[in-house]
Amino acid sequence: MLISPVGVLGAVIAGKMFVCTDNREGGVIPQRAQRCKVDSPDIMPLLATSGKASGGSETKSEDRPETIPQTLGQAFVDPVPSKGKSMEPSQNKQAQHYLADRDRDGLYRTLFNRRDVRAEFLPQAVPDEVLARVLYAAHHAPSVGFMQPWDFTVIKTHKVKHKVQQLFQQANAEAAEKFAHKRQDQYRRLKLEGIVEAPVNLCITCDRERSGKVVLGRTHMPEMDLYSTVCAVQNLWLAARAEGLGVGWVSILDPDALKAVLGIPAKIVPIAYLCIGYVDHFKQQPELATSGWRQRMPLAQLVHSEQWGQSIDQELAAGLAVEADFPSSYLEPAAAGL
Ligand SMILES: Cc1cc2nc3c(=O)[nH]c(=O)nc-3n(C[C@H](O)[C@H](O)[C@H](O)COP(=O)(O)O)c2cc1C
Repeated sequence: MLISPVGVLGAVIAGKMFVCTDNREGGVIPQRAQRCKVDSPDIMPLLATSGKASGGSETKSEDRPETIPQTLGQAFVDPVPSKGKSMEPSQNKQAQHYLADRDRDGLYRTLFNRRDVRAEFLPQAVPDEVLARVLYAAHHAPSVGFMQPWDFTVIKTHKVKHKVQQLFQQANAEAAEKFAHKRQDQYRRLKLEGIVEAPVNLCITCDRERSGKVVLGRTHMPEMDLYSTVCAVQNLWLAARAEGLGVGWVSILDPDALKAVLGIPAKIVPIAYLCIGYVDHFKQQPELATSGWRQRMPLAQLVHSEQWGQSIDQELAAGLAVEADFPSSYLEPAAAGL
């Protein structure tokens, strides 16, 4: 299974945060059932705040079994089991590159429990150290030609947030008009931003000229700098989830008006306007799915073999079927924090 650089970073961050249980019931349990148990949700923001989230110093309790101290330096050691069997590291030197089970599980828990947040923000401030960590996560995203075309404008004042919210209201009214009647009513009922409620707003921009006119990897696809910036957004989104922070992406904004409000130079492109903060709870499923707007598509419909539109081979089809519950096996029931 491929793990993207975005995901690996998320896992490393996650690895710092999560504590794990061993299999106390004995016997062989499926790999995914051995994954890390949820730490007490209400202490996660505190752990994130203190920066002492590793398991070593935590108090034991009956419902929270002994924790395994996390050592980041030892994260990439455990072999990945293949169909129930473990590879011997000595048989496969590559084994050292796999994430330890608990860290891999942390990655997947972060990834599958990430949500776009609009209505659940709490007023609780986001400590600057936590903000710094998620910004570092963003800054370590991949970028074409190592261009690092991003800048981050952090907004904390109500005054600026309020101006952006007004831009949203105008753009949202225009957007609503585009939908047909019934759909329009449904659209108007959706809450599509949490600009003022979120303690922190963040505008991530792209400087298309950051490293000169000719950029390694961009010759035939000049838009790669924009995509690189989106990688930074996703890194931040996952890191934030691992820190117990919700993120909501607001794209219902006129970019030129946004640039005027934030004083962004003409040549700089706004990529993402994000609302960031601790949340009351994380929804288990995308709100657009639960509200009946649109459902997640079956993955098998979207995977082609060798040529566009050509069916995948039986083995991969079987693999997709066997792993159909893989994402949901990581979902947190209460989703009140990882
Ligand atoms: C590029 C982009 C722009 C988005 N813009 C908005 C937006 O303006 N308002 C909103 O409520 N959600 C926005 N979203 C969030 C999506 O609606 C959300 O990701 C999707 O419904 C799936 O839900 P999930 O992120 O909780 O898995 C945006 C997401 C992306 C990736």
